[in-house]
Amino acid sequence: MSTATAAPHAKAKSPQLDNLTFARKEGWRDAVDAPKRVSPELLSTRQIRRLSDSAADIYNQRRTDWHNNLGPFKTPQLVALHDDLWDILDANSQDGNRAKGAVALDGYPGLGKSCAVEEFAKQFHQREIRRHGPYTRAGDERWPVCRIGMRGNTSMKDFNAALCDFYAHPGKRGATTEQLGKWALDCVLSCETRLLIIDDLHFLHWQHHGGVEIGNHFKYIANDFPLTLLSIGIGLGERGVLMEGISYDDAVLAQTTRRTTMLEMRPYAISTERGRRQWRQLLMTVEQRLILGSKRRGMLVDDLSDYLFERSTGHIGSLMELIRRGCTRAIRTRTETLNRELFESFKIDSAAERARRELAVAFRTRRLTTRPLR
Ligand SMILES: Nc1ncnc2c1ncn2[C@@H]1O[C@H](COP(=O)(O)OP(=O)(O)O)[C@@H](O)[C@H]1O
Ligand SMILES: [Mg+2]
Repeated sequence: MSTATAAPHAKAKSPQLDNLTFARKEGWRDAVDAPKRVSPELLSTRQIRRLSDSAADIYNQRRTDWHNNLGPFKTPQLVALHDDLWDILDANSQDGNRAKGAVALDGYPGLGKSCAVEEFAKQFHQREIRRHGPYTRAGDERWPVCRIGMRGNTSMKDFNAALCDFYAHPGKRGATTEQLGKWALDCVLSCETRLLIIDDLHFLHWQHHGGVEIGNHFKYIANDFPLTLLSIGIGLGERGVLMEGISYDDAVLAQTTRRTTMLEMRPYAISTERGRRQWRQLLMTVEQRLILGSKRRGMLVDDLSDYLFERSTGHIGSLMELIRRGCTRAIRTRTETLNRELFESFKIDSAAERARRELAVAFRTRRLTTRPLR
């Protein structure tokens, strides 16, 4: 099967699925092959003041762009996840179309699940292409990874259509769910896809019929498609990757459950020496990357470590949101530095703000600290 090239302006058609560039293989490849961003030059506040209006405008825009795309950092969570995924994928490469089992990655929002998996998928894609070439022996394009993101009400048909869309399968919209499913399997086989990522799987739990039908469909995929199925979501552990309301006595289903490896992502924790060091290491890494005219060594690590933990409750997503917002404001107001006063002037996501109030009390009473004790 040869896969058609998607028009550059083509968008994911299904509004039920997230509209990322990754929705198509070419978009995915662009992301994989994107060159590393180059850091803008670090100018002092005085140098910045001497820039002409238009030069300052360009400089500020480049800095904002840089700050908004920091990372991915090799956090301990990311490194541990990558280790597990390499082990699992490399142990899953038996010949033939044997079922490869599944991996479920569980964790609250903003822990860096999608980010870490995306980074892994890029490396995996590159390694497979390096090892086996960009084309299969049959002459089809090789697509080692396929990624689908769920949204609100995703039906089985939407899902199968999204799979076909990823490969730019020329199939018609009028096709049945089964037909789309068959084409999807064709694409997976001919493009020798080895890893299928389904992000934000928890959206299925909130669906009308508990997503039973599509839940079963995933089990069928895990069993019949010769690839490793990696689902990402919140609460996959408690409910099982299998959705509520599915009969567990079904032997086939029981088998899928058994072959599913549960992985988890956790926030930074400061209850141990090691945890405190890891948190400060993260702040140090962020600090080094900032392009602000009046930045100072230790600006985050020494002065704001407790404060930033309190506000983000150890979630990298909230921390990075604070940093992005802080930097934008520091540049716009010409403060050119990050401090408590500046962070106090805005709010971020509400979950982090709620948890923050509890932590603030603990820090004040000195029950908690991010400082190493030794
Ligand atoms: N390893 C990382 N390095 C830098 N920033 C990260 C990293 N992981 C996550 N982030 C930041 O946190 C945000 C949320 O991460 P994301 O992967 O979307 O979390 P999740 O999928 O767990 O909800 C990202 O937009 C990014 O800004
Ligand atoms: Mg995510």
